[in-house]
Amino acid sequence: MRIVVVGGTGLIGSKVVARLQDAGHEVTPAARSTGVNSYTGEGLEAALNGAETVIDLSNSSYTDQAGALEFFYSSTLNLLTYGRAAGVGHHVALSVVGTDRLAQTERGYFFAKDAQETLIRRSSVPYSLVHATQFFEFVRSIADAAGGSSGSVGPDASVASLSRGRSAASARQGRLRLAEASVQPIAGDDVAAAVTETTLGEPTNATREFTGPEIFALRDLVRLELRARQDPREVEADPLARYFGNTLAPDELLPGPDAYRFSTRFEDWLRARDRAESEPAAAR
Ligand SMILES: NC(=O)c1ccc[n+]([C@@H]2O[C@H](COP(=O)([O-])OP(=O)(O)OC[C@H]3O[C@@H](n4cnc5c(N)ncnc54)[C@H](OP(=O)(O)O)[C@@H]3O)[C@@H](O)[C@H]2O)c1
Repeated sequence: MRIVVVGGTGLIGSKVVARLQDAGHEVTPAARSTGVNSYTGEGLEAALNGAETVIDLSNSSYTDQAGALEFFYSSTLNLLTYGRAAGVGHHVALSVVGTDRLAQTERGYFFAKDAQETLIRRSSVPYSLVHATQFFEFVRSIADAAGGSSGSVGPDASVASLSRGRSAASARQGRLRLAEASVQPIAGDDVAAAVTETTLGEPTNATREFTGPEIFALRDLVRLELRARQDPREVEADPLARYFGNTLAPDELLPGPDAYRFSTRFEDWLRARDRAESEPAAAR
């Protein structure tokens, strides 16, 4: 099958590209770094020529509601419009568990993700929506963002300031304040498996939730991440702390009872990550 993976160079995108290639499919990773811009439409017509399936694993560089909405609305509209013209028969997109609830109550980044989902549902292109809980890989960004001056956590802090180290230094001072919420995080590899399996099935024209095996208080999850990194910062729950610019109800990030649960445990994943990071580069 010929499959275009928009955001195919990102965290989940690169894992999905590798899985699909291993399974023998013809895969095109599409991102600005490969000459395709889903927001402006640049390179889309050529990239989608002959594609049977499009997977959207892109993310916005802007985490505020206006910036994220501008990105997800224009980008999704372009992907659906060019996709329909190219005869795409399956549009798969990755979004976040709880998006619909958070878009109603708090808006912010989730308002933009909800707009993306609504465009997909209302288009004539058959689709499958994958809802995942918070990625294990994202917990580090949650920790760093929680120590910033605002105490708020941005949706793709990893994309924006945090992985580029801007706020990490200031976040190292003082205590981290986390919303009093529960999370049931999932390994990025498991998200990639869910997206791959969904892509290779028939379009469901529905949303399916995927999650990990364990529920944590957000502060406990962040504590485990800090401990693994020998980071001495203390963590405390703060009912006023915001997450993705949102105040959170305690169960607002949790999936429903029908979610598919993968078995990878956070602490096993932490150990494997730390082993991999301590190996000399040549041995990897
Ligand atoms: N973080 C979480 O815990 C979580 C949980 C559930 C769902 N999600 C969702 O998962 C999705 C993927 O997240 P991720 O962390 O894997 O993303 P990521 O690592 O930040 O990767 C984003 C990808 O999008 C591409 N991209 C950005 N702007 C683009 C544009 N204008 N045109 C084409 N490609 C563009 C980037 O490549 P270039 O920069 O080269 O363009 C990159 O390949 C997001 O939509 C997010 O909402 C996240």
